[in-house]
Amino acid sequence: MIIKYTAPLRGELSIPGDKSISHRSIMFGALADGTTEVTNFLTGADCLSTIACFRQMGIDITLKEESRGAHVLVHGRGLHGLNAPSDILDAGNSGTTVRLLSGILAGQAFNSTITGDASIQKRPMKRIMTPLLAMNADISSSHGNGCAPLLIRGKKLRGTHYDSPVASAQVKSCVLLAGLYADSVTSVTEPAVSRNHSELMLRYFGADVRTGTDAENTPKDNAHTGFTVSISPEPVLTGQKVRVPGDISSAAYFIAAALLVPGSELLLKNVGINPTRDGMLRVCKAMGADITLLNEDHTGAEPCADLLVRSSNLKAVEIGGDLIPTLIDELPILAVLAAFADGTTVIRDAAELRVKESDRITVMTENLTRIGCPVEATPDGMIITGGKSLHGMAIDPHKDHRIAMSFAVAALACDGEMDILDADIVNISYPGFYEDLEALCRE
Ligand code: S3P
Repeated sequence: MIIKYTAPLRGELSIPGDKSISHRSIMFGALADGTTEVTNFLTGADCLSTIACFRQMGIDITLKEESRGAHVLVHGRGLHGLNAPSDILDAGNSGTTVRLLSGILAGQAFNSTITGDASIQKRPMKRIMTPLLAMNADISSSHGNGCAPLLIRGKKLRGTHYDSPVASAQVKSCVLLAGLYADSVTSVTEPAVSRNHSELMLRYFGADVRTGTDAENTPKDNAHTGFTVSISPEPVLTGQKVRVPGDISSAAYFIAAALLVPGSELLLKNVGINPTRDGMLRVCKAMGADITLLNEDHTGAEPCADLLVRSSNLKAVEIGGDLIPTLIDELPILAVLAAFADGTTVIRDAAELRVKESDRITVMTENLTRIGCPVEATPDGMIITGGKSLHGMAIDPHKDHRIAMSFAVAALACDGEMDILDADIVNISYPGFYEDLEALCRE
């Protein structure tokens, strides 16, 4: 797909539903008693993979597409209501589906196998196998390489405390979901706070989830005690209404586009601003971005706001430490912003980028170099020198949706045309992305 729009971005856009929250609404709705009604559900391919897996386990889910997002009814069957799947569960490209579902599957009274596409079969699963094995689960990697396909024999699980070496919401959520089926309290401590959507939504559905100093089993001698979450087993979960806020990770591309193209003024409606996800906003402000939060709403489980973004001259920043988990999925588009900012931006403490849908450090470095940006890959990040004039080129996003969208935005500030290979990979998280971008550049 060739991208070359030159007009400023003007008008407003309702951002599609949050991917992480959409996944969880299906999973927790399936395990709850009664019906869960979800609005503004994201119909990206990843979330549809989660729906397909639960349908295969006997959950009745109806999905009605609306003008923006979908209306979904999940007819939950309670904590012990899933049926054994008749076939291998297919998570497609979705790490969230494999990792969270594995925690649920480990505690069932049946056996299952879960796998996904070529990218999923290369992503590390030992990070969930280790804590699940400590909980007495029976889980193995069918090729013995620590990756999917995962063979899971359902068992009664043992409550445990897990000290996670990575700040990963997928690992934390997997352990908490297994904890629903354990014989005593389960807790996880992480080295920094990762997104807390599971904690918020499980509590909303009726689970006893405690965090920080309120958590049970809080380790005394751990430097990260404050980042502990605990869950009590066998709660009665009750179906709820879930209104999914717009995904800040999707908003990020439009924030960046409006900042980069002179004369832009864009209103992004209904964006989730959960503090465990808002690192992109904090970094953009440090770079000199003109972003105003309007209509902040803190009444629901997940805070949201409208974002007014105006084009700005950006300067380089340093991005690292505990901020990284709060913007992990936004680092590709932040790297693009850095390529157009004055000075040298350093991204560190982000080795997790190497095990996402692609090795995002290698793939970003390769493609930024191609468009003329001086960039150096480091083991845990990138050093990016901005401010040079950059040129549209053929881009290979290595079938990674976030890299494809990042370079579609870079195209708006480059000379010439950007040609994005496998451009429709954006359907993983944002069906309609190019149409939304083009419409804003035309208004
Ligand atoms: C997600 C957590 C993050 C993120 C992914 C979605 C989730 O992964 O990168 O896109 O829904 O829990 P990690 O928790 O492994 O960092």
